Order: sequence, then C-alpha cells, then structure tokens
Amino acid sequence: MNKAPTMNRKLTAWVDEISRLCQPEEVSWCDGSQAEYDCLCSEMVNAGTFTPLNQERHPGCFLARSHSSDVARVEDRTYICSEKKDDAGPTNLWSEPAAMKEHLTKQYKGCMRGRTLYVIPFSMGPLHSPIAKIGIELTDSPYVVVNMRIATRMGQAVLDKLGDGEFIPCLHSIGAPLEPGQKDTPWPCEPDPAKKHIVHFTDEGAIWSYGSGYGGNALLGKKCFALRIASVLARKEGWLAEHMLILSITSPQGKKHYLAAAFPSACGKTNLAMLQATMPGWSVRCLGDDIAWIRVGEDGRLYAMNPEFGFFGVAPGTSSNSNPNAVRTIERNTIFTNVALTPEGDVWWEGMDVPAPAKAIDWEGKDWTPDCGRKAAHPNARFTAPAAQCPVIDPDWEKPEGVPLSAILFGGRRPSRIPLVNEAFNWEHGVFMGSSCGSETTSAALGKVGVLRRDPFAMLPFCGYHMGDYFAHWLSMVGRTERVKLPKVFFVNWFRKNADGKWLWPGYGDNSRVLKWICERVDGAGKAVETPIGILPTADAIDRSGLDMSETDMRELLSVDIEGWKQESSDIAEYYNKFGDRLPQSLRDELAALQRRLNR
Ligand code: GTP
Ligand code: SPV
Ligand code: MN
Repeated sequence: MNKAPTMNRKLTAWVDEISRLCQPEEVSWCDGSQAEYDCLCSEMVNAGTFTPLNQERHPGCFLARSHSSDVARVEDRTYICSEKKDDAGPTNLWSEPAAMKEHLTKQYKGCMRGRTLYVIPFSMGPLHSPIAKIGIELTDSPYVVVNMRIATRMGQAVLDKLGDGEFIPCLHSIGAPLEPGQKDTPWPCEPDPAKKHIVHFTDEGAIWSYGSGYGGNALLGKKCFALRIASVLARKEGWLAEHMLILSITSPQGKKHYLAAAFPSACGKTNLAMLQATMPGWSVRCLGDDIAWIRVGEDGRLYAMNPEFGFFGVAPGTSSNSNPNAVRTIERNTIFTNVALTPEGDVWWEGMDVPAPAKAIDWEGKDWTPDCGRKAAHPNARFTAPAAQCPVIDPDWEKPEGVPLSAILFGGRRPSRIPLVNEAFNWEHGVFMGSSCGSETTSAALGKVGVLRRDPFAMLPFCGYHMGDYFAHWLSMVGRTERVKLPKVFFVNWFRKNADGKWLWPGYGDNSRVLKWICERVDGAGKAVETPIGILPTADAIDRSGLDMSETDMRELLSVDIEGWKQESSDIAEYYNKFGDRLPQSLRDELAALQRRLNR
C-alpha cells in the first residue's frame, strides 16, 4: 500500500477496515493526476477493458464494452436502508440497515482478492464552493477511477480540503475476486442479479454498492451521493437536490435567464442543456446536464449549482443535427461505453448522422453489419466527457453559489394528452405538476421500455426518503423566501405523437422556441390562455418563424383533451393513494381543484 496521503484518522481507519474485509492485493490512493489517469488507461488497454479509438481523429478517447448483463442502473436492486421503514416510503425498496450490512459484509469478504483497492477522494461541487460536499469512494474497478476523474473533481486536492473533516463513505466492488492464476475478463462483475446491491444507509450517510461496474450503480458520486444521500441532507438542511439540468438562455436583446429542468432518465436533459437555438440571436449555454443542488440565496432567489464535473450522456441519438455541441464535447478525452467500433477506429451508434458502416464490432464485441438485425450500440450506451470541453459551457458554471433560477421545468415522455408546454398557476400548482409527472420508461434502467409510469420530479429512482415528505419539502420553499422570488414553474412535453405515431414537435434545437415563450412569461409577457390544466400559449405565441410546421399541428400540440385529462386526474388520484397521510393536503387540494376545473 502506498502511504496514506492524509492525516484523517477516520478515513485511514475505514480504508484499513475495508482492506481487511475485501482483501485486495494492494491499496492505491488516487492523486487525480493526468499521469495516474494515463497509467490506468494503458493498464486497461492491456487488460482488454479499453480499446483506444483512432487517436488522430479522437485523441485521448477509449471504448469500453461492458458485460452484457451490466448495462444500466438496477432499480430493483437499489435500496434505501433507513432505520425506520416508513422513512423510505412506498416508492423505494427498503431493508433493515443492520441486516443488510450483515448480509453484504459476507459478500464483501474477500471480494477484492487479486485486485487493487483504489481510494478516490472526490468533491461534489467546485472545490472552492462552500456548499460542495466530499465523498471517498473505495473501488476495485480502474474503469470507475477514470470515469470518476472525468465526472467529479477528484484527487489529492480533495484530501487537502478535507483535512480531518467529514466525508460520505462510498464502498464499491464489482464483486469478482481473482483467484491465483485465474485469467481476468475485460469487464468483470457479479453475474448473479440477486447479488447486485446498490445500498444507501441514509441515517448515517453511507453507500455500499456491490456487483455492478456500470454508470450510476458504480460511479457513486452521481445518483447515489448527489441525489439519494444529498436529498436526505437537503431536506434536513433546507435545500433541494434534484435530477435537473441547468442552462442559461440569452435573448437577442441580451437579457439572460437561468432555467433548471427535471426530465426522467433518457428524456432529454443533456440535449436541452446544450441546445443550439434555431432562432437567430438566441443563445443557450450549459451549466449542467443531470443534477442540480438548489438553495435559497442571500437575495431570496433560488440558486442552482451543478455538483458534477463531467457528463455521462446517452450516446444513441447524439448527432450533429440533434446535438452538435455534444458531438464537439466528445471529440477528445472521452470514454465511450457500449457503442460500436468501426474498422477505422471510429465509434458509431444508432441515430448518428453518418451512414452506418458496412461492418463494425457491436457493443457486445460481435461482428456487425447493417442488415444483421441487431443494434450496433446498446440503447443505454454512454459517453463520459469533461464538462469543460462543452463548447457552450456557461462561463458561470463553476460559480461557488450557483446561478439564480427564473424558471423550473418538469417534463416527461408522453405520446398523448400532455401539451407542449403548460405554465403552473403558482408554486403549489407547480409542485402538483412535478409530483404527478408521468413518463414512459427508457433503457437507462434495466426492465421494460416504453411503459408509462409516474416519475415524480424525475426523482422516482433517486429520492432517498419518503416521497410524500419530499413533496412537502418542495412545498415548504414558499415559507423559506418571498413567493415572488420563487421561479415560475412549467411542464413541457417534446414527445407528443400524432395519429400516425410521428413526433408532432421537431424537438432538439427547436425546443428553444418553447424556452423563448417561457422567458417571455417570466418577463411578464408572452401570449397565453388560461385552461383547466394551466396557462398555455395561444396557437400563435410560440415563434414558428423558419419552421415548417402547420398551424393545425401547433393546435394539436397545444390542445387540452378534457376527457383524457379527467382520466389523467383519476390516475393521479390513484397514485396519490400510495402516500397515505404523508401526502400533503395542499396537493390533494390541487388535484380536487383540477378536477373541478375539468368538470366546469
Ligand atoms: P439521462 O442521462 O439518462 O438522465 O438522460 P437525459 O435526460 O439527459 O436524456 P438525453 O438528453 O440524453 O436524451 C435521451 C434520448 O432522448 C436521446 O435518444 C435523444 O435523442 C432523445 N431526445 C432528446 N431530446 C429530444 C427531443 O427534443 N425530441 C425527441 N423526439 N427526442 C429527444
Ligand atoms: C440516469 O439514468 O438518469 C443517468 C445515467 O443519468 S446513470 O448515471 O447511470 O444513472
Ligand atoms: Mn440522469
């Protein structure tokens, strides 16, 4: 073991304890340097985990292929282990913490044999930010180390800041010990799904993850820490930890607004965060694409800060038509996971705007041709890239206190019923919209795709406590500042389809047209009409200049289907029953008011 580069006794004692339990061959403290990163990458190339891409065209880029059983978050193996079962609520899997620890300790015993235990000190939030929080991830996966270096601020500087202070311990193992003489595989992991566990001890603030090396299951700073653990801390400390992108939008007149938006996994956050406006003079800048920590600032407005340092974005569908800024972000220093590899050493995936290669190696490492009947890239294939490489990163993206929000957007994947955009009457109505958000499931989690489910605030898989209490916490923001200082709330849906099953709305860059109307509303303008479900734009209120779209389609996008909404409201009523007496009364009131308006 290299000598611990810290005097933090709690940390060194914990590393010793885990090292005795997991029995790694060695312990390596990560300093976060480029040399360390390069060394791990070349070790992974030698081990077959990484394939370097064509370095002339993609400098510093690598491809990893995961095990075919380890391709997405495992929601049915993700636990909130609060002392009291009721504190986890009806939307989380719960298990008694002591029993879970006992059970998992058996699995961890000797699980790192033949491997290196890496100690990763990381900060969620800029190092100089007073609201940043420190975690230490112990992992036996070098893939995790290099991804964490891109996705978080990581290394010795974090230990220096930590001193003998507090940190969130994050234990991770792929669960694949190597016996003497045993040959390693490119993506070792625990193949038995029942042994995979992504566990959060929310009362003490600790994370134990076992068996998976993929994404949010393994990069513990992201969903496990910055959302599940942070949401619990946020409730205690009076702020919000949210599954939201943060962007700025500037009008041709130079007026700038900051927006945050919560859409469920694989429902368009990265794309909206980096969008290239299709209207002349408008520009959008990115501050974050997945997570926002939001606090009341000194002036009473809500300030949003991105705790991450990189993007872990969905590759399929990313093209220079849909998201040119993402394409430029991932030109270099990017790790691609589960995309296809061409004979020229380029990456390829479905939805790219270059023709499919005549042949390729698919995400499972098999020969692939366009007519073979399989997808070349896994639908949840991802890129890991430094946020600073985004050509439209906002100059204020690392501001220690974040940026003041003018509006908050909720949204989901809804082929019918839900209009293109809908403004809430007030904060409580906005919280009602967030709480009742429905969306079709995607490949970001293992399980069936395209099934409509309620995903309140896009936080269903990420809220670390009782969802009813979470709704109440959102409502409590009214008491924490002046009502007028709260952002306006909107609900958007880019995914409405016509009778032929085609998208009614062009989406992507053209979503800037909807953002423009939102800015107008924030500034007290924007043509609008009050409907039973909220405030909608009039058919001519959304700027369609330069867009080949009929008035009829626009009317359909903005139509309020009263009978459909009556059904929607009874679906919401049924969903709300889940929460029993922990559902805030004012949400029941909002639902009743919606039903009254629909029946008027
Ligand atoms: P996570 O990283 O899982 O949290 O996902 P995300 O919310 O960042 O979603 P992302 O922006 O990566 O988009 C996911 C998928 O939705 C991609 O395949 C996109 O091409 C598609 N998508 C994004 N925006 C739009 C849009 O405006 N219209 C349509 N039709 N599809 C979109
Ligand atoms: C999501 O599923 O919302 C993601 C990808 O952002 S992961 O980090 O794997 O959770
Ligand atoms: Mn996400």
